[in-house]
Amino acid sequence: MNTILIQNGRVVDPDTKKDGVFDIFIEDGVIAEVGKKLEKEADRVIDAEGLTVLPGLVDLHVHLRDPGQEYKEDVVTGSEAAAHGGVTSLLAMPNTHPPMDSVNRIGYVVNKAKTQADVHVYQSSTITKGMKGEELVDFDAIAEYGVLGFTEDGKSVMNTDLLYQAMKKAKEHDLPIMEHCEDITMVRGGVMNEDENAERLGFPGISNTVEDVIVARDCVLAAETGTKLHLQHCSTAGSVRIIADVKKDGAPVTAEACPHHFILSSDDIPGDDANYKMNPPLRSKEDVAAIRRGIIDGTIDCISTDHAPHSEDEKKRGFRNSPFGIVGIETSAALTYTELVRTGDLTLMQMAEKMSYNPAKILGIPAGSLREGMPADIAVFDFEHPYTIDTKTFLSRGKNTPFAGREVYGAVKFTIVDGKVVWEARN
Ligand code: DOR
Repeated sequence: MNTILIQNGRVVDPDTKKDGVFDIFIEDGVIAEVGKKLEKEADRVIDAEGLTVLPGLVDLHVHLRDPGQEYKEDVVTGSEAAAHGGVTSLLAMPNTHPPMDSVNRIGYVVNKAKTQADVHVYQSSTITKGMKGEELVDFDAIAEYGVLGFTEDGKSVMNTDLLYQAMKKAKEHDLPIMEHCEDITMVRGGVMNEDENAERLGFPGISNTVEDVIVARDCVLAAETGTKLHLQHCSTAGSVRIIADVKKDGAPVTAEACPHHFILSSDDIPGDDANYKMNPPLRSKEDVAAIRRGIIDGTIDCISTDHAPHSEDEKKRGFRNSPFGIVGIETSAALTYTELVRTGDLTLMQMAEKMSYNPAKILGIPAGSLREGMPADIAVFDFEHPYTIDTKTFLSRGKNTPFAGREVYGAVKFTIVDGKVVWEARN
């Protein structure tokens, strides 16, 4: 029998609503007991005094780049990076090469992850074959295989009727459609937010409307079909307004935001540095404030990363010629804690809801909880001592982040998956 006793940590569990100093006893990969001063013999004792114990984080939005672009990331490095970030379950995006549009292709990632990944890797499916936006994938076969969501992340399904048909298929299987909201007909070669900063830097801009019209369209379709719709990486005040509105009417809509969209605005872009280039782009200060309010008031259900590793060479090409995307899975908890919890905007319990409990519910996976009997997926944090984000410490192949050099709180001390320590800080 394999046993671990985590002693004296502050346990914060959004499922049971426990917040206090408890011990957790793990037996054979499962949380066997949570209580005060447990008297247990264990193979391993973790002294968590002064540390905080949360359910392992669940990141709904991760690019593993496997297969096809393993020079950016693969299942193994991506899951190591996840463990380093306190993430114990992740949903991999399907915009790989080739895209994940069939059971065979999805099976490749699932099987590789089963044998080689440190964390739980769930693979999403595309909505259309080849991500071409023309013909739906075989929803029945893919759903039967056990896939938990469908998305064309990287773009929207622009053909409204095709998305409507996709929603009806997803609804048959009670699975979510997850949308990247971007009306490509209005992008016009934009590489950053359309505003005075784009003018200052001389780059073509991307308007908020590009996102807002697709959010609105998709919410209408979700309300009409009753399909679960999850809106990815929301970045605009308009999105927050529309989502709040349709949620009031009971539409089955959930939404996520990423740390960069609630921390940085286009004012922070220092010049032609593509570590500030992602899609959707960094927006205005007003949008950042709206995203924060949306997170705080519950309009936005979860915090994901859109972890999008690219090589240094690719990102050196500047705003006009580099790919969109930044990494995030190793910094999301510390950035969220520092920017939303230390500031008093969110409680630690709410952070655990947004980063663990809610995303687990959206995916329908047994995670996001420290209840007895649950799989022992746990992250132990030091929220007391600051550290500086240093890309040299990243386990991801991608180092493309605008947060390098930033001081944050929330180093991950231990990450445990199914009762196995998969990340342990050296100091
Ligand atoms: O910035 C982004 N990068 N946004 C996306 O939606 C896709 C992603 C990628 O695949 O690199």
